[in-house]
Amino acid sequence: METISLKKVKSTNLYAKEHLAELSDKSVVHAVRQDEGRGRLQRKWVDLGEGNLFMSFVLKPSDSFDEIYSNLTQYLSVKLCKILETYGLEPQIKWPNDVLIHGKKIAGILSETVMQGANFKGLVLGIGVNLNATEDSVKEIIDKDVTALNLEIGNAVDSESFRTALCEEFFKDYDEFLEKGFEFIKSDYINKACFLDKEVCVKVFDKERKGVAKSVTDKGELVLSENNEDFVLTIGDIL
Ligand code: BTN
Repeated sequence: METISLKKVKSTNLYAKEHLAELSDKSVVHAVRQDEGRGRLQRKWVDLGEGNLFMSFVLKPSDSFDEIYSNLTQYLSVKLCKILETYGLEPQIKWPNDVLIHGKKIAGILSETVMQGANFKGLVLGIGVNLNATEDSVKEIIDKDVTALNLEIGNAVDSESFRTALCEEFFKDYDEFLEKGFEFIKSDYINKACFLDKEVCVKVFDKERKGVAKSVTDKGELVLSENNEDFVLTIGDIL
């Protein structure tokens, strides 16, 4: 695994996409600071200062897109939970890939597909984890309840060890995941799911849908029951 370590970037995802041709499969781009971090649904990802994690996996699994690649964000969320558990925490997952501690968001995951014309070139799978932040800085993020690992465990976190452990955990089962897909992680994912059998509001593009989150399919989709009718959602975000 090749790691590109940068001091400051606009966005590790953007850097990885712009340099995709010269980056090898399974390389990792990581930056100490990131001042234009991108999130899902056109949101921003705020840099809470030095000691936090901003990283993108560069993945070139094949010459054509496979729908299994859409589940890589869920695979990464499960792997992140495994690392957070080693700190004595009980992380939970909110569909599709938000990782929460005590109901507060600690990390964000964003996958971007790189195409050249009609040709699939690869994926950039970015992750930001709040590892070292102040109480005040997390409170400044007003659209969400946010936390950081140091605030949960009561001491500073070594961001380099955390990053190394997460990369090792990610690549440990990556090839098997590509063969088997979401079913390979389904039981781990469901064990950590905090949204099942609850009333939820799901943002799907610019619409909001309310219902009960009934289950997760073998492809990682959410089954939402609205007025006793089931709908399978492939894309969206539980608010
Ligand atoms: C979200 O929850 O909205 C996803 C946030 C993803 C943030 C990470 S930080 C590293 C990588 N580079 C980016 O610009 N975004 C991702």
